[in-house]
Formats: sequence, structure tokens, C-alpha cells
Amino acid sequence: MNVAVLASGTGSNLQALLDQVHGRDGIRVVAVASDRPEAPALDRARSAEVATGVFPAARYADRTERDAAMADWLVGQETELVVLAGYMQLLSPAFLERFPARVINVHPALLPAFPGLRAVEQALEYGVKVFGVTVHFVDGGVDSGPIILQRAVELPDVRDSEAVLERLHPIEHELLPQAVRLIAAGAVRLDDRNPRCVVISPECV
Ligand code: GRF
Repeated sequence: MNVAVLASGTGSNLQALLDQVHGRDGIRVVAVASDRPEAPALDRARSAEVATGVFPAARYADRTERDAAMADWLVGQETELVVLAGYMQLLSPAFLERFPARVINVHPALLPAFPGLRAVEQALEYGVKVFGVTVHFVDGGVDSGPIILQRAVELPDVRDSEAVLERLHPIEHELLPQAVRLIAAGAVRLDDRNPRCVVISPECV
């Protein structure tokens, strides 16, 4: 399965994919795209000799045009699964239609709680005691697609977002590669009776 990763920032989740799934079990990271030319994620891709593409908003008339160019490039790289790993832009409906049920995202909260930007800050402001990570399919909404994997962590005393993220990153770096492996193995499907629910073949977990 050919995987493309979209990332706007540091790319530690991209690195987890490069280290844990790239070149194994028939999975290859074939492309990394970013909206930010200076994103460190692009350097990680170059170090792994993975093709990179940069699609800054300023170069295009609007998001639809930018996403069409990005989708064309990803298709040209023979992408079969698109992984959003810290990609800070919303994708247009036309982009999602090019990769139906083939775009996933990692989010630093237990969805449906705290979708969107500043998820950890939202959770801290709310005063939760349990934080977590969600890997989900991307649909037309904000972090609203069917949930593939989730893990919670109790942090009753932590009040600082950096400290929470420090605890969540290792979980992200485990769950995202696991989700990619499960999808590559054909172990992930949507429930016929309730397509919001993701069913994972138990023998693959
Ligand atoms: C992660 O916390 C992820 O949950 C969120 O963006 C962050 C990306 O981090 N969507 P990195 O660039 O992979 O280090």
C-alpha cells in the first residue's frame, strides 16, 4: 500500500511512520506534501528519500485549486492512502472525493470531545482529567469522521499543554502506524448497519 503523508510542522508522526511501517508488510511512504515550504517534516522525508511536494496557499487562487493540484500530484505518486499528520489545513470536498474512505488523521484528543485547533488547550480549559489520542477517517467536517483507534491517558494533575503533549506524542506514534498497518492488512471496514462505526478484524489487532 502506497502511503502519502500531509504535514505542516515538525513531522514526528511522519517519522514514526517512516521508522515503523515504511518498507515493511508491503507498505511504502511514497510522498510527503506540505503547505509550508519550511516544515521540518519535509526534511525528514528528504532524509528518507521520499518524494516531497509543497503546496502553499499563496500560490493558488483558492483552497479548491490548491487541493486539486495536490491531489493530482498525490495520484501521480500512486498514493493509495493519505495520512494527515499535523496538516493544519482543511481539505476540500473535491480532494476527499479523489480518495474515498482513504484519508486518515491523528488528533490529540478523545473525539468527539475537543475537535479542531488547540485540542489540548481546549481540554485543559475544560478541566478534564482524562486526555487521549484519536486516529480517524477524514470526512467533510472538522475531526468528525469515523474513529479507527483511540487511547485514553489519565493525567489528573497536569495543567500545562506542553506536558500533556509530551505524554500524548508517544501514544500518537504508536496508534498512527498501527492504524496504517491495519488498513494495509485489509482489517478495517465500516459497519454495514452503522457506517459511523469502524470494525477492525479481531485477529489483526
Ligand atoms: C500531533 O499532535 C497531531 O495529533 C496533530 O498535530 C500534531 C503533529 O505533530 N494533528 P507532529 O508534526 O507529527 O510532530
